[in-house]
Amino acid sequence: MKIAPSILSADFLNLERELKKVIKAGADILHLDVMDGHFVPNLTFGYPLIKKLRQNFDIPLDAHLMITNPESYIPLLAEIGVDFISIHQETVYHLHRYIQMIKDYGIKAGIALNPSTPVSTIFPIIEHLDFVLIMSVNPGFGGQKFLPLVLRKISELRNKAEQLNPDLLIEVDGGVNHINAAELKKAGADILVAGSYIFDSEDPSIPINLLKNL
Ligand code: DX5
Ligand code: ZN
Repeated sequence: MKIAPSILSADFLNLERELKKVIKAGADILHLDVMDGHFVPNLTFGYPLIKKLRQNFDIPLDAHLMITNPESYIPLLAEIGVDFISIHQETVYHLHRYIQMIKDYGIKAGIALNPSTPVSTIFPIIEHLDFVLIMSVNPGFGGQKFLPLVLRKISELRNKAEQLNPDLLIEVDGGVNHINAAELKKAGADILVAGSYIFDSEDPSIPINLLKNL
């Protein structure tokens, strides 16, 4: 299981120290929640911070774009050098076009799905995706309660992927902790995003190891 701490729950005044700590503790990927105050009712951070992270850390960067018109942001994120980009199915009219655009930059391309969006909505283009990000809370804020309804969505997606795209990675984001992680793994998750569960802990190696060794 790959673990992707969401930096949204980190202490932004001490970000460098916090990130060094989670990387040392075994984080595999840094999950970056980019919000525009439009698709979701919150604002976070953009290019300047992501660029600094790229310049200072070797770890793969995963940009989760909770923004309208995500396609306008792909070229600069590519120039900065992020490794994964997910765009929300709910904000985009031309999913296949923008997935292709991300892949043309050599970046892993994913579609994020809100809790109420059926997984079948991406089945027609499942072969073209590197990953799917299943939201297990409504996007916008860290520290929300996990929605168990995602378990059957993950199983359904894993079954479909077995037939059509066995390499597809399933990432789960929102309210992930040691209580739900084993069920998420059983349902077919490959990457667990966790914000508050990791950053609220004095010693992040404890939650990271618990999630890794399920
Ligand atoms: C929510 C974000 C998540 C969030 C996860 O919109 O996409 O990545 O930061 O935080 P926790 O793990 O605290 O739910
Ligand atoms: Zn996220």
